[in-house]
Amino acid sequence: MPDISEDGRTWLLTGPTSGYAIHLTDDHELLHLHWGPRITLADAEALAVRPLPDYWPFESPLDGREEYPVEGGPRFARPALSVRTQERRGTEWRFEAYEAEDDALRLRFRDGGLAVTLHYRMRDDVVERWATLDNDGPEVELLRADSATWTLPDRDGWRLSQLHGRWAAESRLVRSDLTYGEKVIGSRRGHTGHQHLPWVALDTDATEERGEVYGCALGWSGSWRIAVAQLPDARVQITGGAGYDDSGLLRLAAGESFTTPVFAGLWSDGGYGGASRAWHAYQRMYVIPDAGEDRPVLFNSWEATEFDISEEQQRALARRAADMGVELFVVDDGWFGARTSDRAGLGDWTPNPDRFPGGLKPLADHVHGLGMRFGIWVEPEMVNPDSDLYRAHPDWVQHQTGRKRVEFRNQLVLNLARDDVRDYLWERLDALLSSAPIDYVKWDFNRCFTDAGWPEEAYPQRLWVDHVRSLYALLDRLRGAHPGVDFESCSGGGGRIDLGVMSRTDQVWTSDNTDPLDRLAIQHGFSQIHPARVMAAWVTDSPNTQLNGRVSTLRFRFVSAMAGVLGVGGDLTKWTDDELAEARKWVSLYKEIRPLVQRGDLYRLRPPQGGPSAVQYVLGGETVVLAWLEAQHYGEPVPALRLRGLDPTASYECRETGEVHRGAVLLHHGVRAGLSGDLDAAVLQLRRI
Ligand code: GLA
Repeated sequence: MPDISEDGRTWLLTGPTSGYAIHLTDDHELLHLHWGPRITLADAEALAVRPLPDYWPFESPLDGREEYPVEGGPRFARPALSVRTQERRGTEWRFEAYEAEDDALRLRFRDGGLAVTLHYRMRDDVVERWATLDNDGPEVELLRADSATWTLPDRDGWRLSQLHGRWAAESRLVRSDLTYGEKVIGSRRGHTGHQHLPWVALDTDATEERGEVYGCALGWSGSWRIAVAQLPDARVQITGGAGYDDSGLLRLAAGESFTTPVFAGLWSDGGYGGASRAWHAYQRMYVIPDAGEDRPVLFNSWEATEFDISEEQQRALARRAADMGVELFVVDDGWFGARTSDRAGLGDWTPNPDRFPGGLKPLADHVHGLGMRFGIWVEPEMVNPDSDLYRAHPDWVQHQTGRKRVEFRNQLVLNLARDDVRDYLWERLDALLSSAPIDYVKWDFNRCFTDAGWPEEAYPQRLWVDHVRSLYALLDRLRGAHPGVDFESCSGGGGRIDLGVMSRTDQVWTSDNTDPLDRLAIQHGFSQIHPARVMAAWVTDSPNTQLNGRVSTLRFRFVSAMAGVLGVGGDLTKWTDDELAEARKWVSLYKEIRPLVQRGDLYRLRPPQGGPSAVQYVLGGETVVLAWLEAQHYGEPVPALRLRGLDPTASYECRETGEVHRGAVLLHHGVRAGLSGDLDAAVLQLRRI
């Protein structure tokens, strides 16, 4: 329950280590007081009576201090809320009421017919924030309705961490000094995008293990924007929400409402590593479905076969996969309609009769008979013009009258905001999941929005927002109707990874880049915010067939992929008996360490920067280290790895060497992983004795 001052104007939310406080002035301004270590209500009240700086007339004392800056009045900073009606633009609200219960707080304001409710929910040390807009007056156009604005304390020298990328190169971490003005990241592509994960972190002097870190992550799978602003007096605010532009999100007629996605914020004083562990724990506890259940080792056929698939060939792959210890066999693209290349068939979700004459059931039964679960690939939001679906409903795609329909990968985007499209997809997918014993669906999304128009709809078009809502509704309904089916979020690799989609899928496809060396950097970035429990990683062929022809050992490929949810994606029909036997050992080792990887605390011991790198997972009295060496230079010995998260007074036995190490020695002096040469890798398992 939040602490509330006697006058009902100061509120304090408290987590296990952190506190968050806000205050309402007599002029109905909602000011941010505190986000950081735990404080008392008396501390918050002392902050509330501090006078605002006397800034007039060229600066506003409200800028950089408001919880949810609206447009209008004495404000020059970026508004979180920008609305207009026929008569006027902007908001001049009055406070109406608050409600507090359990870990949640709601504050309601009103401007004429528009009610604005700001929501707060404390989940451990993560503050979840969002807003709802309820209109009971004349039509209001929401030009912009962000989820939240976060305010940082006055400090010198803020640094910004972000995850940037593109296709096959997602989630790469960059850290830079923040300067005056705004840094804006986001997506105007209709999906989360490969270019940025919707997350930022700010610190002034943190290291991997020490110092204060503030992080914010958005739960939205459509276009989005996060703006980090350093204002003229050096104060920093972070504002984020759905949509990229300020030019119109939705219209709200009388009686209509809009709820923003959640923008979650976390303060940690445990450095970048402590912040990541807190984010991981939060997602495993509150976001990811059934996170207590470990993910199975999967095989995916895509890199092995691409579009050239047949039932017989899939059976052969399945036999080899099962023999290796794989637990889930996934048939990727090419099983349906006329889908023999990326030019046709998307939209026709029935098995290709030439390839699967008896439908999918015989293959699914075969896979189950081998002791594995059975999965398929779909891309429901898309259609090839060369498909029965498009021939029947050319008006079902996003398009603008009299304009080109831009094809990417020979496909168009269905307008999921339409009820008939959503109903069709529900019926087809429900029928598909009922037609064969399917346990797993890899749900792909392989192009961005381009001509996102809906001829029957006036602007601003709800298509952008409603596409995401429909996707969520479809996933929720399918999960409800088929509770045994697990889902993977994929978008040409990691183009749709965010807290929104993660709350309704079981794992995500991290990247189409399966090169085990590139993956270390991608996984390092991914781990800043998301846990290994959702991070799918496949062992594929060497030389790498998809990207760069890099040659690497099976050992290096396995240890790289074992840092997440292990999968195998190579052409097993070409692997030698020795390779298959070695793979079986790695899969079996992964199953031993899987509880630690998927449920343990992650410590990044050394980042991948050309030399040795390593991660460590700790669960109870067990720990495992995965270490990699990109290249050894000058014959120099590879440094020992200092471990983390251990009991200094305990002793630990190493499974691989049988040696017993003292906890204090492992923590302060480290252990050698025995790496040498190029592209080497090692696994060390230690158990407290
Ligand atoms: C996307 C996915 C791949 C594969 C192909 C199939 O690129 O990221 O893993 O499923 O589509 O067309």
